[in-house]
Amino acid sequence: MIAVPILDRSRLAALMAREQADFVARHPRAQALHERAQRSLLAGVPMNWMVKWAGAFPLYVEDASGAHFRDVDGHDYIDFCLGDTGAMAGHGAGPTIAAVERQLRRGITTMLPTEDAIWAGEELTRRFGLPYWQFTITATDANRFSLRLARMITDRPFIAVHDHNYHGTVDETFAWLTPDGRVESRRGNLGPQVDPATTTRVVPFNDLGALDRALADQKVAALLIEPALTNVGIVLPDPGYLEGVREITRRYGTVLIHDETHTICAGPGGVTGAGGYAPDMLVIGKTIGGGIPAATYGMSAEVAERITAGTSLEDADVNGIGGTLAGYALSLAAIRATLGEVLTAEAFARMIPLAERWEAGVNDVLVRHAVPWHVTRLGARAEYHFMPTRPRNGAEQWANGDFELERFLHLWAMNRGILMTPFHNMALMSPATTDADVDRHTEVFEAAVQAVFR
Ligand SMILES: Cc1ncc(COP(=O)(O)O)c(C=O)c1O
Repeated sequence: MIAVPILDRSRLAALMAREQADFVARHPRAQALHERAQRSLLAGVPMNWMVKWAGAFPLYVEDASGAHFRDVDGHDYIDFCLGDTGAMAGHGAGPTIAAVERQLRRGITTMLPTEDAIWAGEELTRRFGLPYWQFTITATDANRFSLRLARMITDRPFIAVHDHNYHGTVDETFAWLTPDGRVESRRGNLGPQVDPATTTRVVPFNDLGALDRALADQKVAALLIEPALTNVGIVLPDPGYLEGVREITRRYGTVLIHDETHTICAGPGGVTGAGGYAPDMLVIGKTIGGGIPAATYGMSAEVAERITAGTSLEDADVNGIGGTLAGYALSLAAIRATLGEVLTAEAFARMIPLAERWEAGVNDVLVRHAVPWHVTRLGARAEYHFMPTRPRNGAEQWANGDFELERFLHLWAMNRGILMTPFHNMALMSPATTDADVDRHTEVFEAAVQAVFR
């Protein structure tokens, strides 16, 4: 039997310093841009989370195409981050570009519907089963509006979410469980307007007993969930979990909302379509516009009826649900082309085997080097965890996180032409990704494992 290898922290620190020096040496133009950016952008980045990339400064992108991009210093990268799903359709997919170019010349926004909206509604129904749809610019907005509507139709004060969820910057969802089971504001929650414990109940993933207890007093308007966690790391539902969630929410009259923004990687209809689930509402954003801002929320006929009964024509413009560009023509043209011609069932039939190849490659490295880590896959997305078995809930995955190691692995990959999602160890396949891209990752990952363990 091979002995479990040892992770040597001082060696890791030395390797990180060497990789950081290489990164700086290889990116003089990005460094110059970063220095210039300090004078006009807070922390030198256009959005705060961009400080989190593992390099000494962010890469600056020259252009992106398919599953690759080039930085301003002339290096090519295989993109397994894909804009954290925004570019899951591949960079610059031909049909999306053509539709967007056409729409740019025909009117970007008029605050009136175009026929593309009807096409999109019909296609979303075909994929996810729900009959009625509304459009927004971001998945965050789609989640916020769904929660508002659920509160309105149930007249209940609370919402519920999974521990270690992420559903965008939706204030009420920024809550987690303390080790003794209390709800508190999650770490990093900037300037919350109220204590989330006053709005939100939190339940561990894969724990039907806890869900039952959280909903039993019938004060919870909506349960907003990813049907598999993806944002703390991939956590898959146990067999029967999602069926149990449906049964409990139905019993207590809580509106069940599936957020498929990331879990669309499971197939053309996400986890919901693949499993034949029937949530009351469903949200999806990011990828459906092929990179053009676009998101949507759908609802059952019963939810739609209750919403219609509770809304007034006179207040329709100032009722807390909106956005000037929500449902605008450019976004709908992008959705039509992306869902109709790019992220098709045939595309998933190519992407999922690529993720299987990625998973098998990583797993083979782990087995051959006796590394006690685990690899999980959800359709076209896969991820390795720093623990020997799959996590069953968000807290377990969180407890096995290793920020220092993660940053090293990301930087190591970046210096060798591979971009991973900057949060945990996740890789996403696009229709343009190739076997060679995947095999290059396996090779680079194996070299990292060999460097870091002794
Ligand atoms: C599951 C899920 N829902 C919603 C969002 C929010 O998307 P956006 O930031 O585009 O509003 C995210 C973002 O990562 C997400 O992962």
